[in-house]
Amino acid sequence: MKLIFLGPPGAGKGTQATGVSSHLRVPHISTGDMFRAAIKNETPTGLEAKRYMDAGQLVPDSVVVDMVRERLAMPDCANGYLLDGFPRTVEQARALDEIATPDAVVDIEVPDERLLARLTGRRVCSKCNGTFHVSKVADEKVCPVCGGELYQRDDDKPATISNRLGVYHEQTAPLIGYYAGLGKLKRIDVGALPLYDGDSRAEDVFQAILASLE
Ligand code: AP5
Ligand code: MG
Repeated sequence: MKLIFLGPPGAGKGTQATGVSSHLRVPHISTGDMFRAAIKNETPTGLEAKRYMDAGQLVPDSVVVDMVRERLAMPDCANGYLLDGFPRTVEQARALDEIATPDAVVDIEVPDERLLARLTGRRVCSKCNGTFHVSKVADEKVCPVCGGELYQRDDDKPATISNRLGVYHEQTAPLIGYYAGLGKLKRIDVGALPLYDGDSRAEDVFQAILASLE
């Protein structure tokens, strides 16, 4: 299955992609994670991406599309993949359609005012790449899964978060209409919260995503 997770920063795309990709046995491809790895390895792509990411802006379409095209050509993508954080503009979506049309696009929505607390409290493991909220770990420096060191992402500062939310509404939210028009959009339904079902317990969101794909 070729799947896309759409949603604002902090909606839980990465959190849900971990479980859903292993459930569906397809690779989890996060363009944000790919850029962070490129920055760590000081590659030319990483150096270029860093200044956009630090400002909460999108990396130019041409850079992202070339990176994704290369990744999707790898053998582990032959039976499908889960794209997290791509596409993020209509131009990227059109470029993806030329590579391979997605089977389904899951939209995870959470109101902006809830996203700030999620993102400022997020910690990521430098060893296993797991994502946690500070309120859910015993020690905010130690990964509860593998014991690795937890760190805070450079773009999880309030001013940058506010830019990222603005960019989402302006440049990425139009993809909801784009994929609805193509009949690919899946909205999750947890029950209690019309439109903002992503603002529910992570376990309930996970079940709702699987149900939306049936
Ligand atoms: P990227 O890494 O993709 O960041 P993002 O889209 O801003 O999304 P996040 O990773 O911040 O949020 P998420 O939805 O994955 O939430 P998470 O599961 O971590 O991109 C970073 C940057 O790279 C971009 O700004 C851009 O510069 C560049 N970039 C990447 N792709 C690009 C592209 N295609 N084009 C151009 N530029 C691109 O959860 C967040 C927090 O909430 C965690 O603490 C988690 O524990 C908690 N949480 C999760 N689910 C729940 C729940 N149900 N209830 C309560 N808390 C929850
Ligand atoms: Mg993420």
